Amino acid sequence: MKSSGSAGRGALVRSLSLPEKVALLTGASAFTLGSRESIGLGEVRVSDGPAGVRGATFSGGPTAVLLPNPTLLAAFWDEDAAAEAGRILAEEALARGVHVVLGPTVNLPRSPLGGRLFEAYSEDPLLTGKLAAAAVRAMQDLGVGAALKHLVANDSETARNTMSSELDEATLREVALLPFEIVVADADPWAIVAAYNRVNGTPATEHRELITGIVKGEWGYRGLVMSDWFAARSAGPAANAGLDLVMPGPRGPWGEALVGAVESGEVSEAVIDDHLGRLLLLAARVGALKDDTGADHLARADHLAGAPGSAARHTRSAVAPDSAARRAQLTRLAAQGMTVLVNENGTLPLDRARTVALIGRHAVETIGMGGGSAHVTPPYQVSVADGLRGALGDLVTVVDGVEVRSRPVPARGGFLTDGETGTSGVRVKLLSESGTELERRHAADATTTAGLDERYAEPVATVVLSAVITRSGTAELGVLGSGDWTVRIGDSESSFSLSTTGRNFGEELVVPPLSTGVHTVTAGTTFEASVRLGSGTDAFSAAGLFGLIGRPARRETVDVIDDAVRAAAGADVAVVVVGLTEEQETEGVDKSTLHLPGAQDALVEAVAGAARRTIVVVNAASPVIMPWRTRVDAVLWAGLPGQEAGHAIAAALLGNIEPAGRLVTTFPAEDGGSPAWSVTPVDGVLAYAEGRFAGYRGHDAGLAPAPAFWFGHGLGYTTWDYSDISYSSGSVAVTVTNTGPRAGREVVQIYFRPQDNAHPVRLMGWSAVSLPAGGSARVTVPTDPRMWRAWAGTWVPLGPGELIAARGLGDVRAALGRI
Ligand code: BGC
Repeated sequence: MKSSGSAGRGALVRSLSLPEKVALLTGASAFTLGSRESIGLGEVRVSDGPAGVRGATFSGGPTAVLLPNPTLLAAFWDEDAAAEAGRILAEEALARGVHVVLGPTVNLPRSPLGGRLFEAYSEDPLLTGKLAAAAVRAMQDLGVGAALKHLVANDSETARNTMSSELDEATLREVALLPFEIVVADADPWAIVAAYNRVNGTPATEHRELITGIVKGEWGYRGLVMSDWFAARSAGPAANAGLDLVMPGPRGPWGEALVGAVESGEVSEAVIDDHLGRLLLLAARVGALKDDTGADHLARADHLAGAPGSAARHTRSAVAPDSAARRAQLTRLAAQGMTVLVNENGTLPLDRARTVALIGRHAVETIGMGGGSAHVTPPYQVSVADGLRGALGDLVTVVDGVEVRSRPVPARGGFLTDGETGTSGVRVKLLSESGTELERRHAADATTTAGLDERYAEPVATVVLSAVITRSGTAELGVLGSGDWTVRIGDSESSFSLSTTGRNFGEELVVPPLSTGVHTVTAGTTFEASVRLGSGTDAFSAAGLFGLIGRPARRETVDVIDDAVRAAAGADVAVVVVGLTEEQETEGVDKSTLHLPGAQDALVEAVAGAARRTIVVVNAASPVIMPWRTRVDAVLWAGLPGQEAGHAIAAALLGNIEPAGRLVTTFPAEDGGSPAWSVTPVDGVLAYAEGRFAGYRGHDAGLAPAPAFWFGHGLGYTTWDYSDISYSSGSVAVTVTNTGPRAGREVVQIYFRPQDNAHPVRLMGWSAVSLPAGGSARVTVPTDPRMWRAWAGTWVPLGPGELIAARGLGDVRAALGRI
């Protein structure tokens, strides 16, 4: 059938019966939308997002590029870098036949405890909105749709699928919604994901005022609004609110219930037609609607991506995830956003002639990504130990650090190998109830999901995991996942059941139960475990993450610290790599403290007491408390740097690439020292009591003590002078001079502090400039008109105030009063 533009799509919609229309409004599987040959609608495949394109499955998909996490990308304060990351995602999507990437995430972590802070760009709505818009434009220019998430006030994880975020209208408009507004206006994302939580009592998926009133009404949004996974709970109320698509499928709350709601008159058929029209527009835009040119900009996408207006462009080959070109690109994107927080006496960059004691669990097991749906399977991950040894060779001595996790992780580093391939990891077999083998494969990370993907003819009933133990000695061995287990280690067999606490939605995936024991084993012993899945009725109870745990038995903390101190005393400089893990930085769970887990602070203190010079690298996306920050010589915040982590950290430490980042979140000095702290709902309600004053805005207003490091702080490797600030027609100009010994990049940040202190200080715009040592330039920073407004039932102009040029509000360089 020939169709063209919205009239054509309208005719396609009308050609279907009501049940046929409604059937298309629920996904066909975990990550696909329904197809219908009679109207030329092909399958639309979606994938997470935002750290890489995992593919249309929860696990077991092909290897994919693992990007630096969004806060690390954002810390370079550069729309071009955000766009570059967006292009990588789009190219990866095209190579995997994926049409829509679930991202970017533009929720604002109001409290630093938020578990998904690592997936967001920053605490600031303007910075977040502008960077996300650049990423979305880059993806969509290549014909890959972006799904902006999660609408809205989904800023923490505790009880996320039942809690209500309660915020006043001004906070909603000026803060939480602003990044969505900016991306819709500046980049027109092809999809938006409605969140799990309630907003002022109403589920986000049923929020008519939000979806239909503001997003589709006031903002004129033409794209598709889909539910977050399992977030849709009703038929009539959700469909009438403006939710267009329920994900995942094929089961869900719509189907017959929605047909019934139309027949009973609760939902008008015109509403259904509008939902389907938007779905067909998305399909047309991504090339999955035959003979439909979609939208004008597709001509450009087709030109860039190959075959015009067809799904064919979604199968083109891309740069391999482990190619030299990608490696260099990913190293640069990660290193340039790393942020120098402390640098006494020019300790950094590292002098390459010195001996280095490289210490810490994160030095040997560097964390490249957070946990949950942002997880991908990268082709490799470079540790700091590999990166620094590669650069400095024998000058580096590596010492493992203290434990950093409270739960053992699935086997890594070759402790278990797959008997069939002989490579690190385990063999996975998925069996049906009748014993038919549904899938058999290698899992390098010793885990698999099951029961979620809906991609087999029969449901998965049993998961079998097997491996060979490679080292003799005492080992901690065990299993991960809910169900009835039978475990065989050599000749000994045991059976037991594991189940989750049932307290958190999605727990089976994010924090599955586990059981381990200490065994004395010899190399070559077989370790096999099989689990029968539960038979629950809700989305997750018969599904989850399963794995084998295997590692040498733990060493005593005092012995580990002794070894570190000895190595530090014997070297010219100690580099201690500390950080968080996926236990803290993950979907599904919030943090309860910003202190580093385990005895990492004690390790840093002990090393700092023994070493000539101590450099601390923080391998975490979220702020952490650094009680030792005045007793060490340098601190480098490295974020979650993706697959090239170790190379990027080495490049930043050595100054091959300037770590030119400026913080995108405020680092409080102590637990509780933020304007918004608790993420625990009270009676189901999370009150945004700080209003518009989250993050640096609240610190500036005195709602919380001065932070350890301000949003916007970052020293780079040179120093800067500011002079001659002026303002005209919406732009601030200032002269900046590189007064240090090296070339560098400065981010000129402009803030506005309204005189009326009912309104918070805010970032108005920024511009970056790269200058050689001694170089000087006049930098013009346009302010964004959307930052000059306040919400008072409608948008009104802000009153007078002061314009400030600052390197974070703790380091103000120039100001202009009474603007
Ligand atoms: C997350 C989304 C994600 C989706 C699909 C949900 O649990 O909140 O961000 O895109 O799962 O994996």
